[in-house]
Amino acid sequence: MTRRFGGVRAVDDVSFTLQAGSITGLIGPNGAGKTTLFNLIAGMYRPNSGRLTFGGHRIERQRPDQRTRHGIGRTFQIPRPFPAMSVLDNVMVAAPGQAGERFWRVWSAPSRVAREEASVQARAMDWLRFVGLDRLAEAPARTLSGGQRKLLELARVMMLDPRLVLLDEPGAGVAPPLMAVIVEKIRALNAQGVTFLIIEHDMDLVMSLCRPVLVMAGGRLLMEGSAEEVRRDPRVIDAYLGGVEAGPEGPPS
Ligand SMILES: Nc1ncnc2c1ncn2[C@@H]1O[C@H](COP(=O)(O)OP(=O)(O)O)[C@@H](O)[C@H]1O
Ligand SMILES: [Mg+2]
Repeated sequence: MTRRFGGVRAVDDVSFTLQAGSITGLIGPNGAGKTTLFNLIAGMYRPNSGRLTFGGHRIERQRPDQRTRHGIGRTFQIPRPFPAMSVLDNVMVAAPGQAGERFWRVWSAPSRVAREEASVQARAMDWLRFVGLDRLAEAPARTLSGGQRKLLELARVMMLDPRLVLLDEPGAGVAPPLMAVIVEKIRALNAQGVTFLIIEHDMDLVMSLCRPVLVMAGGRLLMEGSAEEVRRDPRVIDAYLGGVEAGPEGPPS
């Protein structure tokens, strides 16, 4: 796919296949195009050209909610929970297509709305328990630490029952003890068949979690390899040292 903003090719003819069942890393210097690529996959942006296939469907023209129904979920680099709402409510509102969202149903089928809400609440509590936030279910989301917000995001995205989860910097602003918890949760979900694509700057986290790793720079896909291969590849070192301007060829010698 290619996506331009004015004269900037934020994602420039990037092509790759994501292996089902993998935890794939996506790294690259600031401005490399990582978040734009996420937005293209999740549907916030459409490509200027190219195509995107997921589970046998062409989805590059679909809306984000249609892609969610196909099983693509995402989290954000900077989580913005509804601050005054409880932790539990923040997870419950992530559930797709609830009957109570249709105003008239609250009147025409109140028992169905109540039943559905009870089951959504039970699922939300299950995910809060999974990420270890169940004891904070009634607390306002604004009281959560950076790491707890990342865990809340993970619980929220799991309400969508995704097959592929896009995580934008799960380690950003997270203290080390909670980082270990996040890694453990990602591994556990992956063992149950959830595929992950993870943008991350923390190389230790990438090394311990991701295989393979994709490297972007200046909108291009520079290489794909194991974390170890990527870390010692001169093109990758150049991209980080030279910044975006250096491009795939690296700085002039
Ligand atoms: N909505 C937008 N409008 C204009 N330019 C954008 C927009 N989003 C991203 N860009 C530009 O595209 C390039 C890639 O940005 P981004 O995808 O955010 O990179 P990364 O996430 O790797 O830091 C940057 O030059 C950025 O300024
Ligand atoms: Mg980004």
